[in-house]
Amino acid sequence: MRTPAGAALLAALVLVGSPPAALAGAEEGKALYEKQCKVCHSLAGEAGKMAEKGGPLDGVGAKRDAAWLRQYIANPKSVMPDAKMPKLKMTEKELEDHVAYMSSLR
Ligand code: HEC
Repeated sequence: MRTPAGAALLAALVLVGSPPAALAGAEEGKALYEKQCKVCHSLAGEAGKMAEKGGPLDGVGAKRDAAWLRQYIANPKSVMPDAKMPKLKMTEKELEDHVAYMSSLR
């Protein structure tokens, strides 16, 4: 890869190859999940170090709608007063990406 433009093109090609059903932001949300969320959760058999805390998120997109996910991820206690999941620092865009990714888990 000689130029940043080449890297961008490759990234675009990789994204084009992702499933068409994926919502906008789902790919970004997946990358964010690996960094911010995986430690407390498991998904598709891949468990984070403290996965027993948050448990599996398999199928959560079918169980919870986007509005619930948005509010819960933004501030867990606003939905579940006794929530143990912490309120994580994130931008509005990152929140949308998390919601897109979680919604895609069906
Ligand atoms: C410190 C541990 C921790 C981290 C980090 C964490 N979670 Fe959680 N999560 C939990 C726990 C514990 C629960 C169970 C409900 C509760 O007590 O809040 C939960 C529940 C959830 C649920 C609801 C699952 C269901 O079946 O209803 C979703 C969705 C979720 N987490 C997404 C995320 C996302 C997205 C991130 C990253 C932005 C994240 N979690 C980061 C601990 C964590």
